[in-house]
Amino acid sequence: MTSKATAIAHPNIAFVKYWGRLDDKLRLPMNNSISMNLDPLSTITTVEFSDVYKKDDIQVLDSQTKKSDTSRVTAHLELIRKLMKIVTKARVVSKNTFPQSSGVGSSASGFAALTLAATKAIGLDCSEKELSILARQGSGSASRSVPTGFVEWIAAASSNESFAYTIAPYNHWDIRDIIAIIETSPKRVSSTKGHLQINTSAFYNARLAKLHQTLAEVRTAILEKNFRMFGEAIEAEAISLHVVAMTSKPAIFYWAPATLRLIQAIQNWRLGGLEVYFTIDAGPNVHLICEAKNEQKVKQMIAVLDGVREVLVAQPGEGVKLSENHLF
Ligand code: DP6
Repeated sequence: MTSKATAIAHPNIAFVKYWGRLDDKLRLPMNNSISMNLDPLSTITTVEFSDVYKKDDIQVLDSQTKKSDTSRVTAHLELIRKLMKIVTKARVVSKNTFPQSSGVGSSASGFAALTLAATKAIGLDCSEKELSILARQGSGSASRSVPTGFVEWIAAASSNESFAYTIAPYNHWDIRDIIAIIETSPKRVSSTKGHLQINTSAFYNARLAKLHQTLAEVRTAILEKNFRMFGEAIEAEAISLHVVAMTSKPAIFYWAPATLRLIQAIQNWRLGGLEVYFTIDAGPNVHLICEAKNEQKVKQMIAVLDGVREVLVAQPGEGVKLSENHLF
């Protein structure tokens, strides 16, 4: 057999973050999370299953793919092959439109695009929910890059119940994620490892106890487009994740000196009337969240700060889609 398909997906930024797992193998999260897909950043992936291939051949263009990343891709193909009860090997070629050095993780967009391209190429027609469940098993946050726009991923004890769905379409709210790149070297501790350390932090349970309220606030703020309520909730939420990371054993400090300088600058800009809030993932880069009308102003303010190497701008994006532009 020979069959090929290509898919394109955006990475996402979590406003309420996934940190900690109930089940490591199935990647079932401890808590619900809420995110937004980031357009125009994207990953495009072509998959071809063919008897010609004696083993899986995986290539990520323009990057030095680590051995560990390739084995996660092979494991994901294996999962999809099992569904079809076939053993045919595949060639996978993948490309990111954003620099790997940007520190924006490509595992979410990567596994979302891989899941759609591989299922289609193998002849499986999956629903959005099924794609999200499958993508989740490659990388948790990938479940959220499957549906369009503003998305919530449900934490559940069984695999079939833990998937992401759209809470508002991408054109619902014109906000921006202005990503200030502070360091271009790889993360000191991967998020995959960070998830394993939650129980070593005395503050983890306090974070979990508050999440129910945070989720309700962020969901409501998105639906009502209440920017202040949204900003205050997502900022406190990001700080709570980093408090857990910093108080884990061994302690994980994702922030660099320039991260803190930027946090303090944002607080000052707000005092001066500029409505901008931050969120930070498992790395030093700062995501500045503002309404579209403030994009230029925020960019100007960042431009004069020390330690910001590059700035990327993203807006709410669609979910994973098929494409006719095959990479081989
Ligand atoms: C801090 O999805 O990268 O970005 O399931 O091990 O692949 P794995 O973890 P991953 O974790 C993302 C952690 C985060 C928060 C978030 O995106 O929700």
